[in-house]
Amino acid sequence: TLFAGAAHAGAGKKRRVPFGAALEYLPFIEDSDYTALFVQHCDIIVPMNSLKWDALQWNRGDFTFLEADGILNFSESLERGSYGHTFVWWNGLPPWVETLSTRKEAEAALIEHIQTVGSYYSGRVPAWDVANEVVAHDPLESGMWRDSVWMRLLGAEHVDIAFAEAAKAAPDAELNINDYDLEFKGARYDARRKAILDLVRRLQDRGLKIDAVGIQGHLYPEVPIDFEGLGRFITDLAALGVDYRITEIDVIDWKLPVDIELRDERAASHVNDFLDAAFSAAPPLSVATWGLSDRYSWISDAMPHRRGARNRPLPFDENLKPKPMFDVIMKYV
Ligand code: XIL
Repeated sequence: TLFAGAAHAGAGKKRRVPFGAALEYLPFIEDSDYTALFVQHCDIIVPMNSLKWDALQWNRGDFTFLEADGILNFSESLERGSYGHTFVWWNGLPPWVETLSTRKEAEAALIEHIQTVGSYYSGRVPAWDVANEVVAHDPLESGMWRDSVWMRLLGAEHVDIAFAEAAKAAPDAELNINDYDLEFKGARYDARRKAILDLVRRLQDRGLKIDAVGIQGHLYPEVPIDFEGLGRFITDLAALGVDYRITEIDVIDWKLPVDIELRDERAASHVNDFLDAAFSAAPPLSVATWGLSDRYSWISDAMPHRRGARNRPLPFDENLKPKPMFDVIMKYV
């Protein structure tokens, strides 16, 4: 069985908290050297994209679990853990979802998706990111909610619906909120932390189960970690009875010097600042990076990069050699 909450010795070393990474389907089936890194180092293997709407339900009502099952079976066969990412997100949607036009249609689609996927994996996928990135990029400018097709058609209630349906479909699963920009210093980040706490209270006020918050951890070396602010956030969550995970560490390193050694050291020390602040407050339920090697990272596709110098966001380099970032993470887990 898959697990999400306990440290596991599967990767050969007793850890304080489980360490894992997200795995994309294509490299999983095509690149056995890369996949071997997961076998060697990961207690938890998370399908990166295979449990998103566009992977599961490209055509309306026609569910395909092939990719997700491939990765989850792999993890299970190695006696490793996993968790599900994600039920509600503004992105990763098949085109038909964006054409929904009434409240009734949106609610029906949301309920059908969560019921079908949640119950298919019930008892097997131990935790779900029920809501991913529902907080506004800058709540000071636009209020606390991020725009999405769900928000436009259902308002904030879409999050309540998602949590209610997830609890029904997967009654044993840990149910989570996952979001980014929760660890930095500045008014916008204070507002984002507050929005998450408000969202937790909103769910609790409605009697909905919310177990943990996923702090993604997409880091920018030029944006300082708020040691106090992150610590207080984790403590405030704990006071509400809510735990936390670190779910998507990588370093968006495009402003770092091109010199590779310097670059990797700076990225590693930033990850250290982040983990130091988080672990000083309380250890998370797990620590995961968003991929394992610079050979495959969304940062190189989605973010600006230095002309002629590839991004180096992850713990292993393109040749699958560990970087200083890996040693830093291993100090904490
Ligand atoms: C990204 C994947 O890494 C890409 O492969 C995909 O094309 C887009 O999504 N925050 C999240 C993740 O919660 O789901 C995103 O993953 C990265 C940002």
